[in-house]
Amino acid sequence: MYCVSTYIYIMDVKEVERLIKISREHPLMPETYIPWQLQPKPDDIFLPDILTSLHGLPIYDTLTPAQKLELGRHELVQVISSYAWGECLFCVFMTRHLINLPQDEPEHQFLIRELIEEFRHQEMFARAIKQLGGKPIKQSGLHKFFGEFSNKYLPADYLFMGSVSVELVTDVYGNYARRSPNIYPVLKKMFDLHNIEEGRHILFTKSLLKTYSAKAGFIKRTLYSYVILFNILFVRTMYVKREIYERIGLPNPDVAYKQASKNFKQKFAAKCLDDIIEFVDSWKGFNIATRWAWRMILGAKV
Ligand SMILES: [Fe+2]
Ligand SMILES: [Fe+2]
Repeated sequence: MYCVSTYIYIMDVKEVERLIKISREHPLMPETYIPWQLQPKPDDIFLPDILTSLHGLPIYDTLTPAQKLELGRHELVQVISSYAWGECLFCVFMTRHLINLPQDEPEHQFLIRELIEEFRHQEMFARAIKQLGGKPIKQSGLHKFFGEFSNKYLPADYLFMGSVSVELVTDVYGNYARRSPNIYPVLKKMFDLHNIEEGRHILFTKSLLKTYSAKAGFIKRTLYSYVILFNILFVRTMYVKREIYERIGLPNPDVAYKQASKNFKQKFAAKCLDDIIEFVDSWKGFNIATRWAWRMILGAKV
């Protein structure tokens, strides 16, 4: 694996130093930033309707208010549990990557800050899951295999491409949640915190990747584009779970699962892909070899 650090000087060192400084001087501690003492009030929700997998389907209108609330609670738990798992995997990679970086370089210093923040996020998500009485459903064997395999064997630039795509997509998701007026305040602050810190990670990674994508030819841009596409598919398919429909007492969870998967694919394409499409487009990642797959697999309008 070649070393990213040789390219760091092409990226904006001043900008990276600014990001490091903010992270050091204005750390957001989940312990104090989030009002953990607040329990959910009767009209608090856990996930905006629009983000739940069943919203938009006729079946959704047959749910009682209590079932809708429970659907949101279980799916929110699934979302943040998946985030935390993905962040843990990325921490494994960053730790390995750090071993090869000189400690006096901004990239090293930034990645240390990112690791610290990602570990705090994982603890924060786990605490929120506990506070909500959540029972996360484990990743499927396929998710586990691809997650761990790619983490171990893909070169650094591909993993950073993957991470920025997941961060961009989940950021949009978090924005919907935190701007929803009656969201449970613990979750609002959790998404606020995450949005602020992930914003810095995104800026850093985009800056780092600029040097890669600028040098990439047709084949590499195609591969980057596919890595991003599969990362998004990976994220999207982690949320919709048959077991959740069972938990909320739907008479036919298999049918609900089938409809929800299709529904969520369309919703995800319509609501969550704008930023990532703009990013991929900025280095011409849509071409004759990739465009059809984005349309077919993700339902993206590219
Ligand atoms: Fe994070
Ligand atoms: Fe991050």
